[in-house]
This record gives sequence, C-alpha cells and structure tokens, in this order.
Amino acid sequence: MNILHLISSPRKGASYSIQLGNALVQKLVAAHPDSTVRIHDLTETPFPHLEEVHLQSFFTPAENRTPAQQTAVRHSEEAIAELMAADVIVIGAPLYNFGIPSTLKTWIDHIARVGITFSYSANGPEGLIRGKKVYLAMSSGGIYSEGPMSSYDFVVPYLKTVLGFLGMTDITVVRAEGTSIPDLQVSTVEKGLASVAV
Ligand SMILES: Cc1cc2nc3c(=O)[nH]c(=O)nc-3n(C[C@H](O)[C@H](O)[C@H](O)COP(=O)(O)O)c2cc1C
Repeated sequence: MNILHLISSPRKGASYSIQLGNALVQKLVAAHPDSTVRIHDLTETPFPHLEEVHLQSFFTPAENRTPAQQTAVRHSEEAIAELMAADVIVIGAPLYNFGIPSTLKTWIDHIARVGITFSYSANGPEGLIRGKKVYLAMSSGGIYSEGPMSSYDFVVPYLKTVLGFLGMTDITVVRAEGTSIPDLQVSTVEKGLASVAV
C-alpha cells in the first residue's frame, strides 16, 4: 500500500493537523506493515497560483506546447503522477478563515484537469482518480463537528465535493478540533485518532 501524506500547515511540529496526519499514517502502517509512506509538505514549495501560462499549458496538446508551457505544466503533471501512485491519501487540512489554506487550494488547482483527472460524458462529469482511500486530517481552533458553528465549516463540504468530483469518493474525516481551547487542545489529536478505524 502506498500512502501519500499531504501537509498544508506551515507550523511543523506545533501543527495539530500534522500531528493527527502523522498519527493516522502510523496507524495505517501498523495495520499494513508493507506500506510505503511519501510525505509532501505543500508549504515548503507551494504550487503557484494559476497564471495564463499554466492555463494555456493545460489546454494545449503536449506536442504543441511552447517551452514556457512545458515548464509550467510540470507542477500539474508531477502532482497528478504522485496522486495516481498512491492508494491512500492523508490530507492535512487546517481550517483557515472557514476554508482551506491557499497552499492546499493551489494543489487542487493543479490536479483538476479536464481529460486527465475528470471528463465529461453523456452521463455528466466523471472523476478519473478512482480506487483511492482518502482521510482528511482536519484541525480547527473552534468546534465544527456539531453545535452552532457547524455550518461555518467549508473545509469538509468543499474537499468532499472537489475530491469526489475527481473520483475520490471514499473519504473519512478525522478532526483535531478545539485547538484554541486549552481544555480541549491537550487531548484533541488522541480523540480524533480514536474516532477512526483503519
Ligand atoms: C490564518 C488562520 C486562520 C484561521 N481561521 C480559523 C477559523 O476560521 N476558525 C477556527 O476555528 N480556527 C481558525 N484558525 C485556527 C486554526 O484552525 C487552528 O489553530 C488549527 O489548529 C491550525 O491548524 P494546525 O494546528 O495544523 O496548524 C485560524 C488560524 C490561522 C493561522
């Protein structure tokens, strides 16, 4: 089993989503000792915002791309190849201003490619990244799994929608929440981890 752990918090060891993602990866490896683990920290070499050259490269056949377009499309091609090689994807996702960090958004913008990771058929859109198991290792300062703030969480609905659109429909959400609340933060990773069976 090939496990890909995507990190989108820049806080290294202090990050709850990284701690939760690491703990989840350890749990997966314990259950499947022959696994390989690849860690990709999206904050270290962030994917660029989509510029004109990226969009042109996406919609130009490979044999017709200019040298600049060939360079621009590499981010997308490497990200898609890395994703396709994984069986299990652990996505660390802190809640930032009710949504995902921009580093995770630019990664999504580079993996969503018509004709490559999704297509349109007579039956409507079809995701082409199939057979993956995805875990969202989410962290948030407040509580969003229940209670008055639950409708303010755009991370889980958005990621489930966009990943599902690309074919990744088997998604389990694991939360380290209340990380800004002293009484909750101490046990939140342990609690999140205990909530999931692998
Ligand atoms: C830029 C920024 C925006 C944030 N926005 C929210 C928010 O909208 N709601 C919330 O509950 N917590 C918010 N937080 C708190 C984080 O979700 C919390 O600190 C979380 O643990 C961060 O993830 P990490 O520990 O993996 O870095 C924000 C933190 C930062 C740095």
